[in-house]
Amino acid sequence: MSDAHQNQHDLSAKPDQRAARSADYTTNLDLEGAEFGGELNGEELTAEYRSGSDWWRTAVFYQIYPKSFADGNGDGIGDLIGVKDRLDYLALLGVDALWLSPFYKSPMADGGYDVSDPTDVDPMFGTLADFDAMITAAHERGIKVTVDIVPNHLSDQHVWFQQALAAGPGSPERARFIFMDGRGPDGSEPPNNWPSIFGGPAWTRVPDGQWYLHIFAPEQPDVNWANPEVPAEFERILRFWLERGADGFRVDVAHSMAKPEGLPDMDLTAYQGPGTQLNPDLRFDNDGVHEHLKMFRRVIDSYENRMAVGEAWVANDERLALYVRGDELHLTFNFRLVEAPWSAESFQSAIDNSLTAMAEVGAPCTWVLSNHDVIRHTTRYGGGPVGHARGRAAALVQLSLPGAAYLYNGDELGLENVNLPDEALQDPTWERSGHTERGRDGERVPMPWEGTEPPFGFGAGVQPWLPVPPEWAAVTVEAQLDDEGSTLSLYRHALRLRRQLPELHGSAFSWQRGPQGCLAYRRGSNLVVALNAGDVPVELPPGEVLLSSSALEGNKLPANTAVWLRA
Ligand code: NOJ
Ligand code: CA
Repeated sequence: MSDAHQNQHDLSAKPDQRAARSADYTTNLDLEGAEFGGELNGEELTAEYRSGSDWWRTAVFYQIYPKSFADGNGDGIGDLIGVKDRLDYLALLGVDALWLSPFYKSPMADGGYDVSDPTDVDPMFGTLADFDAMITAAHERGIKVTVDIVPNHLSDQHVWFQQALAAGPGSPERARFIFMDGRGPDGSEPPNNWPSIFGGPAWTRVPDGQWYLHIFAPEQPDVNWANPEVPAEFERILRFWLERGADGFRVDVAHSMAKPEGLPDMDLTAYQGPGTQLNPDLRFDNDGVHEHLKMFRRVIDSYENRMAVGEAWVANDERLALYVRGDELHLTFNFRLVEAPWSAESFQSAIDNSLTAMAEVGAPCTWVLSNHDVIRHTTRYGGGPVGHARGRAAALVQLSLPGAAYLYNGDELGLENVNLPDEALQDPTWERSGHTERGRDGERVPMPWEGTEPPFGFGAGVQPWLPVPPEWAAVTVEAQLDDEGSTLSLYRHALRLRRQLPELHGSAFSWQRGPQGCLAYRRGSNLVVALNAGDVPVELPPGEVLLSSSALEGNKLPANTAVWLRA
């Protein structure tokens, strides 16, 4: 969460024009005419590349934010039928696996990360039968499906929390959450000074005078992992989705389940408002968390070829590596590239530190540029033509590093954040920060699929849950599919090459010397990747160019461009 909303599509100006309907909406994109010169050759290569118990080590995952991906029933909100209907697109794009953000029963106080029934589908997204149909169809296309699990908190509407409120202080029902008496003579002050990630205190008082802990919104009470009922319940949830065929999990706030003994105050001198994580931060990364992750691993490994990736925003790569020791999570997102400003030095140090730390524990790195919580990378890199060039170049870096990669829906279209009008904002951060932090809706705007007017085939034409900017006519899937120079084509080329080039399947990696402002590395014996993050063109490394993120200028590598070469 940040306020760096420069160079975004501005929707705040004329909200009334956003209601325009697409007259010539078509339901099915013609994916037939979308081949490049060569065969995509999906079948053979994917079967080989994805098989085996450690498919996840080199997989390209595609994150679907279900509300924003595709609306199958025309109510303006994305859903599971929408996902199923677009699987041919994802197969054509060439991803190996999906990660679906929560589609579980939820009052939607935090975009579904407030789960009221973790083993059912919210009617907004469909039914369990829709999930089954979607996963079957994905598997038929050789695409694996992983789902979110949210173990730090439940919704305040979950039956457990309702029972806890009714049962009162000292009850076993309350012991599933973190209820405490307050401080001060009348207990009217929170039990400690922890702030909530979304703003305000991390404690809310209930009518009988006790307080409950919520590191996120008040509608997301933290559960008490020290109570054996809690791990047992999460084991049940894991098994439920594994039995239904899920290939793995993305573990939400995987670093927050364990809380420090006695819940002491923390030092808030460096606290800068909602979203701030401190170092040290007593709310996160307590050592007790690893015991719980071992349970996850035990359960997941009792099924064949499954995996889990953790979301852990911890202080450094050494702490991060602890989450992927052999008996814990399989992968953990590496957010160093998300945090790295645009420069060869910062990219190099992000990559270097991460590779070194993960090698210590024998885990692959898991590269991320964007997700539903951070400003889209094209916008972070300045937006507009420069941001686009940099975003494309960063993608060629991301997809050529050893390990797994996570794309966020819309990365492949080069989407930017959208500057939404105040009245459209839905992220709890907006209210809880007293309207000082706009939150994360700008990176959650629905995908533009086809046609010339909003909402671009996202659904049957009704106004979607967040407005889509008219300028996105130029970046729809349809507009980019047959355009060899489009960002979509670049991703398709990169993903196809990633499967074909054996160098990109292994872990061999070595840095190469490069001019000022550039970085270069060798993968395997003779694949070279070079990035010019500087302002002036430089000499290309010798070799045959396999792919470049922008047009090359003779034998020069232009500024803000990356290239893959056969040396
Ligand atoms: C991380 C999720 O990615 C984010 O969207 C959510 O708000 C928090 N965890 C709380 O579940
Ligand atoms: Ca819908």
